[in-house]
Amino acid sequence: MSWAEIYPWRGPQAGEPVIRQIYDQVRGAIVQSALKPGDRLPSSRDFAQRLGVARASVVAAYDLLLAEGYAVGRPGSGTYVSTDLSGVAELKPPADAAPRSPSVVPDRVRDLDEVVLPPPQADQRLFTSGRTLLDARAMDAWSRSTRRALRTLDPVHFGYSDPRGDKALRAAICDYLRAARGVICEPDQVIVTAGAQHAVDIAARVLLKEGDRVWMEDPGYPATRHALAAMGADIFHTPVDRSGVVVAAGVEAAPQARVAFVTPSHQYPLGMTLSMGRRMELLAWARTAGAWIVEDDYASEFRYSGPPLESLQGLDGGERVIYVGTLNKALFPGLRMGYLVAPRPLVTAFVNARQLMDRQPPTLTQAIVLDFMREGHFAAHIRRRRLAYKAQRDALAGALETQLGDLLEVDRPDQGMTLIAYLKGNGSDLEVEAAAARGGVSVRAISRLYRQAQPRQGLMLGFSGFPERMMAPGVARLARALGA
Ligand SMILES: Cc1ncc(COP(=O)(O)O)c(C=O)c1O
Repeated sequence: MSWAEIYPWRGPQAGEPVIRQIYDQVRGAIVQSALKPGDRLPSSRDFAQRLGVARASVVAAYDLLLAEGYAVGRPGSGTYVSTDLSGVAELKPPADAAPRSPSVVPDRVRDLDEVVLPPPQADQRLFTSGRTLLDARAMDAWSRSTRRALRTLDPVHFGYSDPRGDKALRAAICDYLRAARGVICEPDQVIVTAGAQHAVDIAARVLLKEGDRVWMEDPGYPATRHALAAMGADIFHTPVDRSGVVVAAGVEAAPQARVAFVTPSHQYPLGMTLSMGRRMELLAWARTAGAWIVEDDYASEFRYSGPPLESLQGLDGGERVIYVGTLNKALFPGLRMGYLVAPRPLVTAFVNARQLMDRQPPTLTQAIVLDFMREGHFAAHIRRRRLAYKAQRDALAGALETQLGDLLEVDRPDQGMTLIAYLKGNGSDLEVEAAAARGGVSVRAISRLYRQAQPRQGLMLGFSGFPERMMAPGVARLARALGA
């Protein structure tokens, strides 16, 4: 493949001889790596026609490039950029002598440089978090939905469309949320996003301006903190205890906060569920303070004991809670699809903010997800995953208790895709993380997720991405890495 076909070749200008101009352009494109070794140059006939010059001029320019080693001819095939440019005179463009001052690096760049990327699915080290497993039935159903969606795509799907997403998909999401999470919604309040992170980012943009006070959990999800910092928000790091976020601490220290960002189903990273009492306290505060709540309900599909607590959004009657959910956990992170449900007065602002970021969700992916949901595969997949993840959680927790019980105290979460093993004694979770990494096992130290609260020393282990049978051998490997 060669980009020579679309390179902006210029026709001859007055002054320099035509042959020289052609030679300079091709040589320049090679020197700047716009054309790569092995790329095919246009045929002399095409090139001459395109530039509006005599073919003999192009041939003469090519002869010069051939003679100097920039190009090679392949009989019967054409002229190519040489694959060995080591012998040619000078490949670097001459340095520009004009004075330079470095561009000012904004403070924001430092913040953004600190953002830690989640491990990719290709990181197959045991206990890497954020991975999901699809069984053969889900894979098969997904391929069938993809084929059907491709067959039914209409030319209208290739154009710009509603930034909220496909109407039928929004209706399906609404049906699911009403049934599964007690969310109060109509399809026109649903906005399809690229995921929970995208939804949180939109919420931060819409709800906050520089200096606004917000609550976020401590410890909490770093990407949410970065989204809030990007808006210049003044973050009150609200402590959490066994019942979830300690509302009283927020009420005391930052009663006038504009927004609270919370993960009530499965607190990130510790995994506890926000108790019903705290849910009521949080909503009561928001009503008094005239504040909004952003409920990040990521991974709420995977609940392992008893019925889930109703969403904050449902308890509130859909008035002051922005509900955020994701299909990237329920299905697979590479999907990049999630949603938010906006309270009525905020719908237009949310839709427009979403539109300014990336216009609309991709039509083909939406069509596939809609088909997958309509055919009942989504519900069936969640049901099967719940059983599988529960078994994986139990296998991991059991193996940790048996093999590393002296070192770790395991917290078996009712929900989610990760568990926390707290360090017994005075060890440092960062050191344990490093030792595990040397042994090829990925566990994440939770102490670095704390801001103001006293950090606890513990490890976050993902159990969703590895089958049950891998848990005991994986923990054995971890134990060897820790010299336990
Ligand atoms: C608390 C929390 N919110 C949001 C996300 C992001 O999810 P998504 O992949 O849908 O953007 C994650 C992912 O791990 C998460 O843990």
